[in-house]
Amino acid sequence: MGLSRQAHLNQALMGIPRRAEGADRSTLAMTFVSAGSFSAMLHSTDHQILYGRRGTGKTHALLYLSNLIERTGDVAVYLDLRTIGSAEGMYTDSNLSPTVRGTHLLVDTLEAIQDELLAVAFGPEIGDQNALLLALDALAEAATAVEVVGEVEQETTLGGSAGSSGGIELSVSPNAPNARVSASRHESVAAQSRSRRTGVERHHVVFGPLSRALRGITSALGGARLWLLLDEWSSVPLDLQPLLADLLRRAVLPTPGVTVKFAAVERRSRLRQSSLNGDYVGIEVGADAASAVNLDDHMIFGNARSRAQEFFGQLFHNHTSARLAKMIYDPPPDPDSFIEATFRPNAFSELVRAAEGVPRDAINIAALAAQHARNEPIGLSDVRRAARDWYLRDKQTAINANEPSRRMLRLLIDEVVGRRRSRTFLLDQLDARHATIDELYDARLLHVLQRGIVDSKSPGTLYDGFAIDYGCYVDLHVRPRDRGGWLNSPRGVPPDELSLVKAAIDLATLV
Ligand SMILES: Nc1ncnc2c1ncn2[C@@H]1O[C@H](COP(=O)(O)OP(=O)(O)OP(=O)(O)O)[C@@H](O)[C@H]1O
Ligand SMILES: [Mg+2]
Repeated sequence: MGLSRQAHLNQALMGIPRRAEGADRSTLAMTFVSAGSFSAMLHSTDHQILYGRRGTGKTHALLYLSNLIERTGDVAVYLDLRTIGSAEGMYTDSNLSPTVRGTHLLVDTLEAIQDELLAVAFGPEIGDQNALLLALDALAEAATAVEVVGEVEQETTLGGSAGSSGGIELSVSPNAPNARVSASRHESVAAQSRSRRTGVERHHVVFGPLSRALRGITSALGGARLWLLLDEWSSVPLDLQPLLADLLRRAVLPTPGVTVKFAAVERRSRLRQSSLNGDYVGIEVGADAASAVNLDDHMIFGNARSRAQEFFGQLFHNHTSARLAKMIYDPPPDPDSFIEATFRPNAFSELVRAAEGVPRDAINIAALAAQHARNEPIGLSDVRRAARDWYLRDKQTAINANEPSRRMLRLLIDEVVGRRRSRTFLLDQLDARHATIDELYDARLLHVLQRGIVDSKSPGTLYDGFAIDYGCYVDLHVRPRDRGGWLNSPRGVPPDELSLVKAAIDLATLV
């Protein structure tokens, strides 16, 4: 006997890819759901940094954009920065100096861009193929001339905390467009011996030929815009990120006809590094013609639960409809009928709550719930069990090795959920920058509902509004309330009688 209709619906949920790079681009173009104005903002020709935590849809957004770009006759170059370079682990090899690693990174990135453009040059409908091939030769030549230099001083001390500091300098002289980057590093390592190494390692980035080659490329494209989409920025070692950002700022961002978008996890990104002389290496977000777009902010649906349900309903329908069309006769024609056929009452809204605005978490929880439900419609208890499993399996393990964050989470759950019977809380922004809070947010154990809430009684103090992850309280019999219900409301204004100072949690007093 074949599978029942219900089992097929559940199987379709289990089969949704967890990562966007696993699907082909035309499928991604069809399955993409735009939250609010996000799609229009993404398609602007401004240089943008697309921030988002793991699984929020950065790759999907970039690949959807690349499809849109190609349909309008422009040229899209999508690069996954994890896959550039041939020597595995070279950028992280601590036996090599930062300057050598930096040089390899810059050269490999430029070569990867050149490779992608070569494929474009041999494709159909290209402006001026000869001119493009010549410009690509010039790009290859300019890439091989890139070199990072700098001063490095290292000291390692026997058996204790040891310091290492290094400086890479980058300066541009008007006649010889060489560059010198300034940076300093401090780190602690355990060491067995003491050694001191001082030397000068030079850093030259010849921007002139590079910029000329890029201008040659855009003019050969004959009016078509070149969109450079860089994914997985945060996979580049932190100390090398400012160097790559600097290359973009000086050579790529100013080129007319080029738009750069790159996707990064904010907490794992370092776009600029100050130097001692007040200058900086890298990109200053906002100032250097590059703005930041935060996918997490677009996924805050707040009290507008219906908007969240609409987004995720459409997402599940889009991701399952093609498969279902092959599996069953008369598949659900729209999101509402899909949800009605697949979930028992209230189970879908619970799934949306459990997802906390993160698509990959929603997909994983739905798949686990579908597994539990087998041949039946998915019920509330299936969703809760799945959310709990996902929380333990994925989210909590991410901070297992991080004792301070684990402890902070425990204290927050005890205080907010345990004592205050709430799921939301406020932190003074000075506290919100606490490293453990940042880590919990990055691990999707805390979620931001609002940033920069002003206290009318002391306007100098700003607060951020947080929610504790659903997985932290799913097992409780009594559901915590939204004590700070106003935090979720569309206007998000605190009630007049509320004292924010009293309402906020003082991290120093948590025990
Ligand atoms: N707006 C959306 N519409 C439809 N599906 C989406 C959307 N956003 C994300 N998804 C789906 O959610 C999953 C995770 O998305 P994606 O792989 O793009 O996340 P990511 O932010 O790139 O994660 P990572 O940081 O781990 O690379 C994918 O299956 C993707 O198709
Ligand atoms: Mg991705």
